[in-house]
Amino acid sequence: MSKEIFNPKRFNKSDNPDFDQVLESHLSRRNIIKGGLGLGAMATFATFGLAGCNSSSSSSAATDTLTPTTPATPTASSARLGFNSIAGSKIDAVSVPEGYTAQVLAPWGQPIKSGGSAWQEDGSNNAIDQANSMGMHHDGLHFFPLNDDGTDGLLCVNHEYIDQNALHPNGSDKDADGIRTSVDQVRKEINAHGVAVVRIKLVDNEWQVVDNDPLNRRYTGATTMTISGPLAHSDKLITPFSPDGSQARGTLNNCGNGYTPWGTYLTCEENWPGYFINTGETTEDQERIGIDTSGTTRYGWETVAGSTQERVDEFGRFNVTPTGTSALDDYRNEANGHGYIVEIDPYTANSRAVKRTALGRFRHEGCTVGKLTEGKPITFYSGHDSRFEYMYKFVSDALWDPADANPTDRLATGDKYMDAGTLYVAKFDADGVGTWLPLTLDSVTKEGGTLGDKFASLADIILNTAGAADLVGATPMDRPEWCAVDPFTGSVYLTLTNNTRRNETTGTNPANPRLNNKFGHVIRWDEGDNHTEFSWDIFVFGSDAAGDALTNLSGLDEFNQFASPDGLAFDQRGIMWIQTDNGADEVENYTNDQMLAVVPSALTDEEGNQQTINSENQGELRRFFVGPNGCEVTGFTITPDYTTMFVSIQHPGNWPYSSNAAQATPSGMTVRPRASVVAIRKADGGALGV
Ligand code: FEO
Ligand code: CA
Ligand code: CA
Ligand code: CA
Repeated sequence: MSKEIFNPKRFNKSDNPDFDQVLESHLSRRNIIKGGLGLGAMATFATFGLAGCNSSSSSSAATDTLTPTTPATPTASSARLGFNSIAGSKIDAVSVPEGYTAQVLAPWGQPIKSGGSAWQEDGSNNAIDQANSMGMHHDGLHFFPLNDDGTDGLLCVNHEYIDQNALHPNGSDKDADGIRTSVDQVRKEINAHGVAVVRIKLVDNEWQVVDNDPLNRRYTGATTMTISGPLAHSDKLITPFSPDGSQARGTLNNCGNGYTPWGTYLTCEENWPGYFINTGETTEDQERIGIDTSGTTRYGWETVAGSTQERVDEFGRFNVTPTGTSALDDYRNEANGHGYIVEIDPYTANSRAVKRTALGRFRHEGCTVGKLTEGKPITFYSGHDSRFEYMYKFVSDALWDPADANPTDRLATGDKYMDAGTLYVAKFDADGVGTWLPLTLDSVTKEGGTLGDKFASLADIILNTAGAADLVGATPMDRPEWCAVDPFTGSVYLTLTNNTRRNETTGTNPANPRLNNKFGHVIRWDEGDNHTEFSWDIFVFGSDAAGDALTNLSGLDEFNQFASPDGLAFDQRGIMWIQTDNGADEVENYTNDQMLAVVPSALTDEEGNQQTINSENQGELRRFFVGPNGCEVTGFTITPDYTTMFVSIQHPGNWPYSSNAAQATPSGMTVRPRASVVAIRKADGGALGV
């Protein structure tokens, strides 16, 4: 998200405990704990035989006496980065390592379905054009293959928000009072939000959008979606549009993403509260999450309510002020249909998106599935990106059945794993361990009561997830953004982008140990044997290379200095990709936003314990990509053969100039900026990064 427009406010007014600053202990404690856990794991492996693993002599002895039935799973990646870290850059073009190419693909406004006109450089496309074209401000994305060699597939792309100045010929049409005057402009803005599903093919080493493919579609801020899970058919979801509480209209501010083992896309509703306003009596959840109570909403869509052109309260629904006698008379419940993880089946044309309410309602940054084990529940991780907000996970009731990787009905499989389970919130303790606190009616609060004293149902808890998390004592974090799970170790990594309001008054805590945290950090944890315990450490601290000893804690240099980690992903080779949404001048003066790579499971000590980034090993964290001026680099996906990587460039300043993403806009020339996917390949067609 744009730091200028959507700087999150602090709505968390809870007094959950902050701890004294602890800067030295967290670097080493988890390794001690992991070492202990590792011994237990080794014993388990020995029971089944540890064939083919570079294990110690004692475990080799075990294999001598046992006949292995299945190959042992490596516990560390064998991938090694095969490129040199690139320098920072501050130009109207992307930068990639030598031997790599970068192509602009599916930019904002490119038609994907018939029914709209070609994109116009002057911004004059109308709302119908926009509904049939790529949305604006690309963010999370995922590639779903349609063939085995990875040259044909479906790209799902989030469109987080809009820049009205770029979207329209001359910016927003509002009058001096902030009242919008063009219904078509407002509809165009709503249609520029949401998700695109678009078929792409690699032809002669260039990716192409397959125009008007039957699987191409848009989900916008107005598309009807199904409500599933505990809030389905709840009284709190009743609107004049959906009298039985089964549907919601639109998905908004889709930031990070996820994907499931059964082939569906997860899109995450982040800064949705700003699209709604309540000038009357507010509810506790609205106060906690920060629904505005005066002025207008972010883009003023509600100000054209009552227009003779309005259809089915398409604009009035953003004003959630109670005015009638019941929820059937006004849109008091409209915002209750937002703030969720939304599941989309890309492979089924025109399939309806499903809002999975069991995973909580807050400003979801992303949603990441934990390492799968047959016969165990599936875990979904999702952070609440706002200052002093929390980290959550959802653990399914259903146990993972590998046969579900190829279901006949993908959304029915989503029902199985995502509608029933337990939502937890994280409490990070000082000794490198932590506790997942369940958010259920019988959960014990800090005061010694239960959540059932305060909430009448699980649906009520979910509606005010953050309020419930306050009561049980969750740890206030420095803006939880994306999560990623190491496919080898199962360790979970989380970006904490920054928090410059962490000061002497708010205090620090062990997991967020820096005052005025302008550079951010990446924390990681390993789950314990039950669902409630974990061990954690801080993998890397953002910093400029010139930062002092209390700032540059990971020993970064010119070739990997970064600030504000945000996008985060592992590929299946064990390479972790870190993307930035920079908020620190010290780094911004050196480089635009960027993407770095590292193989965390390869950073081990002599005992095999995972290491954090430090001055000795920091050269293994390498800058792979730099975006154009003004942009944020966000979203990551890679083809199954690792030969094409797709990332999003969001809110560039004066780019793209041509289909070659690395070709700079000529000096003195101004182009209408377009967020875009960038397809990165090696010129020789080989695997990326290695
Ligand atoms: Fe939309 Fe938290 O970034
Ligand atoms: Ca961000
Ligand atoms: Ca963003
Ligand atoms: Ca983000």
